[in-house]
Amino acid sequence: MTGLSAALAMANDATPDVGDDHAQILEGLGARQKWISPKYFYDERGSELFDAICRLPEYYPTRVELALMNRHIGEIAHLVGPRASVIEFGAGSNLKVRKLLDGLDQPAAYVPVEISADYLVKQADELARDYPHVHVQPVFADFTRPFDLPAHPVTPERNLIFFPGSTIGNFARPQAADLLEVMKLEACASGALLIGVDLRKNPAILHAAYNDSQGVTAAFNLNVLRRLNRELGANFALEQFRHEAIYDENEGRIEMRLVSTLAQTVAIAGERIVFGEGEHIITEYSHKYSVEEFIVLAEGAGFTTEKTWVDENALFSIHFLAVA
Ligand code: AVJ
Repeated sequence: MTGLSAALAMANDATPDVGDDHAQILEGLGARQKWISPKYFYDERGSELFDAICRLPEYYPTRVELALMNRHIGEIAHLVGPRASVIEFGAGSNLKVRKLLDGLDQPAAYVPVEISADYLVKQADELARDYPHVHVQPVFADFTRPFDLPAHPVTPERNLIFFPGSTIGNFARPQAADLLEVMKLEACASGALLIGVDLRKNPAILHAAYNDSQGVTAAFNLNVLRRLNRELGANFALEQFRHEAIYDENEGRIEMRLVSTLAQTVAIAGERIVFGEGEHIITEYSHKYSVEEFIVLAEGAGFTTEKTWVDENALFSIHFLAVA
């Protein structure tokens, strides 16, 4: 695998060392096809912009997934059963895990797994306060590799891996399969997985979702250059790059790009990065699946599908899978 596919595939990989991050950014910008891992989107401003994306009329995934959870939480709770330990891969939107914990029968524990400590502690504290009967125990780890689960005062009936938001889409298909295998391992013998997966659909809908009319996605994409200016002393002129998101129907993925609008040279950490006019940096892949395609992937990783929910417009899916 090339550096590009490896790094984009491992969108959520753990690089606790800032030096490693900087080396990865320089590697990506020095490659023939320039790339920056999407994990660098999420500084404070980037996280705010992502929240704003989730409220956009064109960005359907967040809304549709929450609506599906609201509609089917009773059935989800029935399938999961009592006293589950909810293990969330990545500590994302608070709203979704609250919906889940509210609906489950006496959830025993909540274990968010995330590499970025600040966010994790804040979110875990809030949940622990609001769910006094749930043992909240964050784990600081790179969830793309096996990690140790904490012990709980009450032994959970089963582990439920929770991976909402179609974050799986950031991973290329082979790496998504590897991640599903880690999930199977962490779920243990009687465990299950509840996962949100964005669907293949009319390209016009996808195009609108990633090229919104208010330019929030463009600001989110360009913000990564602002971050490199601040953290690596780079001198990207943001007005000399433009956001582009294209849907590759064959690959079944959105490709987010930053296009250089003219020939230019950028300085970063003592290096010079040369851009031709129209040359682009890839900043993110967002893979889309058909229901059948995802089921094949998950079953290949050792799960059996118990239930799939899809909204009436076939935009988004939630899958409940048990360890086979
Ligand atoms: C957080 C990776 C699921 O792929 O839709 C939204 C990120 N990028 N708009 C996605 C994103 C541009 C999002 N994920």
